[in-house]
Amino acid sequence: MTRRKIVAGNWKMNGSKESVVELVKSIQSNDAVDVVVAPSFVYLATVADLALASNLKVAAQNVSDQKQGAFTGEVSIPMLEDFSVSHVIVGHSERRSLYAETDAIVADKVDAVLAAGLTPILCVGETLEQRENGTTLAICNGQIDAVMNVVGAERFESVVVAYEPVWAIGTGKSATSEQAQEVHKGIRTHIAKTSSKAAEKVAILYGGSVKASNSAELFAQPDIDGALVGGASLDAAEFNSIIESAK
Ligand code: G3P
Repeated sequence: MTRRKIVAGNWKMNGSKESVVELVKSIQSNDAVDVVVAPSFVYLATVADLALASNLKVAAQNVSDQKQGAFTGEVSIPMLEDFSVSHVIVGHSERRSLYAETDAIVADKVDAVLAAGLTPILCVGETLEQRENGTTLAICNGQIDAVMNVVGAERFESVVVAYEPVWAIGTGKSATSEQAQEVHKGIRTHIAKTSSKAAEKVAILYGGSVKASNSAELFAQPDIDGALVGGASLDAAEFNSIIESAK
């Protein structure tokens, strides 16, 4: 089964009112690839209008699992829907490590995103110590199971998974295409134990120091369906090259 490639840019807590307008206007959409941009919440309104006009999709970097109420500082799914957000990054390793997002919290957020008909980009990945201990797949598949046990296999078909080895994020040291393919295949094989249909349908993106110099080799791997790009997505020329290599 051929899965459509997805190239998503996670802008994290970066940009200014001026720079995000210039950036989103410089990103080229592509008929063969789903291109997604994930600005900071404060720029979502501005970026969404421009992105959608350029056939780009818009993601939030996080979301509350609550619809409204006394949750200071949080953003709800209905608020994202006001700006035609279609994707939500959930469980990024930075939220798990810095903001104590547990597997249970991540699962509840994925459940709420799916219930609203939006697409969750579920981040999983191991630390360097866990890789060195040989527990990479146990960690990643545990994170997958924590969500699949809540949302069920059929609804999991609509989840996009992003494998992001923590040791490759922001370090300039990407996993090799062989390392990434091995984990992607291991995740897909694990999902297949519960649902062969979900295993076939689920797009698995790679994230962690993706650049124009390594993207084509990564995308050539059978179980790598795209990328979740951090730093390189803040440079329009670099990000456009990564998109081009996904065609
Ligand atoms: O969510 C994507 C991000 O974690 C990867 O960051 O800068 O290594 O591409 P970077």
